[in-house]
Order: sequence, then structure tokens, then C-alpha cells
Amino acid sequence: MADRKTAAGLDAIETASQDELSALQLERLKWTVRHAYQNVPFYRRKLEEKGVHPDDIKSLEDIRLLPFTTKADLRANYPFGLFAVPKERLARLHASSGTTGKPTVVGYTKNDIDTWAGLIARSLHAAGARPGDTVHVAYGYGLFTGGLGAHYGAEKLGCCVVPMSGGATERQVQLIQDFQPRVIMVTPSYMLAIADEFRRQGLDPRQSSLKIGVHGAEPWTEAMRREIEETFGIDAVDIYGLSEVMGPGVAMECADAKDGPTIWEDHFYPEIVDPETGEVLPEGSLGELVFTTLTKEALPVLRYRTRDLTRLLPGTSRTMRRFERISGRSDDMMIIRGVNVFPSQIEELLLKEAALAPHYRLEIRREGRLDSLTVVVEAKPGVEPSAAEPCCRSLSAHIKKVIGISCAVQALPCGAIERSQGKARRVFDYRSLSAAS
Ligand code: DLL
Repeated sequence: MADRKTAAGLDAIETASQDELSALQLERLKWTVRHAYQNVPFYRRKLEEKGVHPDDIKSLEDIRLLPFTTKADLRANYPFGLFAVPKERLARLHASSGTTGKPTVVGYTKNDIDTWAGLIARSLHAAGARPGDTVHVAYGYGLFTGGLGAHYGAEKLGCCVVPMSGGATERQVQLIQDFQPRVIMVTPSYMLAIADEFRRQGLDPRQSSLKIGVHGAEPWTEAMRREIEETFGIDAVDIYGLSEVMGPGVAMECADAKDGPTIWEDHFYPEIVDPETGEVLPEGSLGELVFTTLTKEALPVLRYRTRDLTRLLPGTSRTMRRFERISGRSDDMMIIRGVNVFPSQIEELLLKEAALAPHYRLEIRREGRLDSLTVVVEAKPGVEPSAAEPCCRSLSAHIKKVIGISCAVQALPCGAIERSQGKARRVFDYRSLSAAS
């Protein structure tokens, strides 16, 4: 089943019956729990504490018997404590940057790398890429899973890969002009920086060879999709993933539907839980996305708490379920004077303002005992910041009306906001500084 293709070039399981999919998931779930229990002392202890034995997994609902895994568990077992295979069987390590403590390390066997490449190939096919296409990869190469993950999958699909990595924006444009890729894989924020560079060089991004943008690794909005699609004249689709669960390609939006990423459920079992209590929420509720890997050998994870907030939706173009575009990470949620705000809510409103560019920064400070939010934006190329004032006032009024918070909106000249070369940092919280001073 895994290797069979349909006439349309899909993996057979993508359009299998629900019963077939569920049967495969159950078989793989049983394997994963046994594998973790037998080979990872951490999981054996956690399962024993809950009084659960692998033989107790008799249906997919029994997944609720399993313990959660968090990022803190990965850190506490740094570097290899959660691995289920001896080091000699590993083919690759990746790691997070570790800016907030020890990095988290993830490992892959040769089979894991093959599975991952297969899922990226499947994702690229869903995005509309085909064998023979040239794929420009501008996700970072190195310890980040984006670059190498995308690379192996694009090769597996039969594409020619340009392993550009992030940064060197002038060169990105030059190579897109010279090598004529049909597909680009890059974070949405960096795609906009590449658009700026096209214009700086006097080139029209719509005239480039690009037809498909495969964007992810950070939250982005429908408004941002429209902006990218109109700027480049391409189809822009959403790719999701996280290193702890595999990397990019855990879920992928299908280009024909553009209705949220389809979860590759034959490899990752999703649940939505209440972020506070961990209680499983009914299908369709907004909550925290949780994944159990079903096939990973080196690093099986049981019920990994992603911190990403979304809701599960029924399948449309595939048998597998989708999720709604991620509204944000619970870690990125700002609480301004008691109101919960996600950067994506502000982005959606910002992109409606004609004189403002889609680059922004959110600064939070404490003035006296009150939080204050400043939305720092850029005037569009050719617009003086003073001429963007009416749009700033309009944005501030919309934020007040739609989100319910007062904020200042400050327009800077074009180019004044630092461009991301990968994941954009949107929130700058200076509250602890103000408290200390
Ligand atoms: O960002 C893997 C990746 C690379 C995905 C390239 C897509 C493309 P991490 O660095 O571990 O892995 O970060 C994972 O990024 O939990 C989400 O919060 C966020 N994220 C990833 N994709 C999306 C997306 C990679 N499409 C974290 N929409 C995840 C919103 C996303 N957030």
C-alpha cells in the first residue's frame, strides 16, 4: 500500500477508504507504543506510572491512555535520552537553535529519512509540483529541518533541486532568474523579502519563472497568501511540520483545494486538546494540536504537545483530515491588558491598508501598570511615512474594533524593518525591561 500509486500519481493511501486508513493507523500505533515501551526507558516509566501496557492498545481511542510528551521532556533527556535505537543505527541528527536553553535534538534512521523524503515528495505533488520541475529551496540548510527535509523530498519526486538555503537575498533573485525554477520552498516572510529584492533590481516578480510557492515554518494568514500570490502570480500553499515530530511535511495543503493542510495521517495521528487541562476536545473544537508518530524508528513520540492552536476538519481532496490554518502558537499569544492577541490577527488587518507594506513588528511595553502595544509598520515603496498616516490611524481603529485593544501604529520608511531570512520574529516584549527599570 505504502508504495502503490493511483492513476493520478497519489500514494494509494491518500484516497483509501476510512476503514483502510484506520486499520493501518491502529496497526502502526500498536507498533509505536510497543517500540517506545521496549526501547525508551522514559516511555516505559511513564506508561508504567499510568498503569498502561502496550497490549492495552486495542483501538485508536486507546491513544488517550498514553502519556503526553512535551518539549521540556526532550530537553530533560538531552541529547539522546528519548531515542529508541542505538546511536549506530542513526543516519542523521537535526537540532533546534536552542536560543531559550538547551537545543532539542532529533534523530533519524535511514528508514526515517526515506519516509520523510516520501512525505515531502507527496506534499510537493499535492502542491502541484511534478517530476522534472526545478525546485529552489530557500529554507535554511544545516541543523534546521527545513532545507535538508525539503531537499531529499524534492529529489525523491524526481525534481532538480537548487539547494540555495536562506540569506544572500540578491543571489536568490539572480539564481531564480538564471535557473528558472517552477517551484520555490521558503518561509512566507522571506518570500516577501525576495519580492522586495526583485523590485530593487528593477525586475517584476510576476515575470519570474515561479509558479508554485510552498510556504511554512511560521504562521501566516490568508491575507499574506493573497499578497504573495498577487506579487508573484503564483499558487502559494501551506506546508506544516515540526522537528520533534519529523520536520516539514507532517501536513500539506493541496493546491486544488487550498483549504488548510491535510495531515499525513498514515504517519502522524492528530488530536486536539485543551491547552490548559490536556483534555481531548470534540472534533472541530479549537485547541492545541497533539501528534503521535506512527512509523518513526529513531525517535517515536507519544502525544507530542505542539503548542500550535487550530481545529481538525474533515478530509476533502484526501481521506485524511485537515486542520485550519494555525492561528498561532500558544507561546506567541500576547496578553495585552487582559486581551489575548495573536500576531496573525494584526497581520490580517494590516494587509488591508493600501499604503502599508506587509512587514511588521509588535512591541509590547509596560507604562506604569498598563501594557502598551505599538504596531511598527513600513510605508509601501514610494510612499513617505507621513503620507501613510491615515492608514496608520485606520489600522489602529480596526484593531480596536475587531480585536478590542488600543494600540499605537507607527510607520517607518520602506526597508526600515529588518527582513527575516527564515522564520520572522514578530513580537518584541520589553515588559520585563520596563519592570526592572
Ligand atoms: O519549522 C519545520 C518546517 C520547515 C515546516 C519548513 C515547514 C517548512 P521547527 O523549527 O521545529 O520546524 O518549528 C516548528 O513552526 O510547531 C509551528 O509553530 C511553526 N510552523 C511550522 N509550519 C507552520 C505553518 C519547522 N505552516 C513550529 N503554519 C511549529 C504555522 C508553522 N506555523
